[in-house]
Amino acid sequence: MTDTWLVTGGAGYIGAHVVRSLQAAGAQAVVIDDLSTGDLRRVEVPFVEGDIADRELVADTLRQHRITGVVHLAADKQVAESMRHPLAYYRRNVFNLMQLLDAMAQAGVAKLVFSSSAAVYGMVDSAQVREDHPTQPINPYGETKLIGEWLIRDQARATGLRFAALRYFNVAGTAAPELGDLGRSNLIPMVFDALARGDQPVIFGGRHPTPDGTCVRDFIHVQDLADAHVAAIATLDSPGAGHVFNVGCGRGYSVREVIEMVAEVSGRSIAPLVGEARPGDPAMVVADTAHISATLGWRPRHDLREMVRSAWHAQPQQLSAAQS
Ligand SMILES: NC(=O)c1ccc[n+]([C@@H]2O[C@H](COP(=O)([O-])OP(=O)(O)OC[C@H]3O[C@@H](n4cnc5c(N)ncnc54)[C@H](O)[C@@H]3O)[C@@H](O)[C@H]2O)c1
Repeated sequence: MTDTWLVTGGAGYIGAHVVRSLQAAGAQAVVIDDLSTGDLRRVEVPFVEGDIADRELVADTLRQHRITGVVHLAADKQVAESMRHPLAYYRRNVFNLMQLLDAMAQAGVAKLVFSSSAAVYGMVDSAQVREDHPTQPINPYGETKLIGEWLIRDQARATGLRFAALRYFNVAGTAAPELGDLGRSNLIPMVFDALARGDQPVIFGGRHPTPDGTCVRDFIHVQDLADAHVAAIATLDSPGAGHVFNVGCGRGYSVREVIEMVAEVSGRSIAPLVGEARPGDPAMVVADTAHISATLGWRPRHDLREMVRSAWHAQPQQLSAAQS
């Protein structure tokens, strides 16, 4: 690959991994980020500090760096926050995407990979969820991601934009300690935090209709996810390309199994407490990955142990990054 890609949100956890995967594939990357949750120390490529809502700044960046296509990750991602501040989520995740699409059209950039989410599905009623499963998100965050997919699809129909929307499942692990997840809203960092405080982690609900009664989720290593972006980019050379792919492992782990893996990797003894189930938490969300593996030949290479191991060993560096 000899192209140059603009990575929005490239100072973030996943974006920084995407930049490295692009480079490993021989492409160049430019990052635009407002550093609202990102960290500049993750960025080792040309960097533009700014908000993607700034259409002129984005259009100038696209032209100046002769950008081939955009990988769009810049967004807010916390479900609970989106319930408290829905307008902020619509502004940051939907309005900003409109600005980005406008800037791309203005600069004649016609390839896009979009960070979507398994949150677009909402309550899932099958063991594995396929891309054609009904999309009924149950929170504003998931709604903004689904609307994002619609916006992109409509813009593609109107302008010939080529796109791949990747529905990420539960992202975990790190390829390098300095790229680890600084966010604390996902299960594995939450368990680490409880251990650091000397508390026991709390499991939300122990009576779900799953083998051990706790929720089941599909965890994907961030390096595998980043590589899926590069694989998706390869499809964008075909006129009319417009894909939606699940990106998960296709295997579910229960919350209890994940906590047991943290105990094993960390050598700590953990006795989780079981609290009330959270309203609207689906019992089981696991990806059907047939479409992405058949179309892109992509397959995950890392297992849950590696996700937990890499995240655990990244902690001291992350703590110092968060403190400085
Ligand atoms: N982490 C997950 O488990 C997960 C799961 C599904 C989907 N996603 C999606 O993946 C994307 C990246 O998530 P992440 O985990 O790397 O989060 P992150 O917070 O680490 O990264 C987001 C980056 O975008 C930047 N940003 C946000 N709004 C911006 C704006 N308006 N202009 C410029 N930069 C902006 C932030 O500063 C940050 O660097 C998001 O779109 C998120 O919704 C993440």
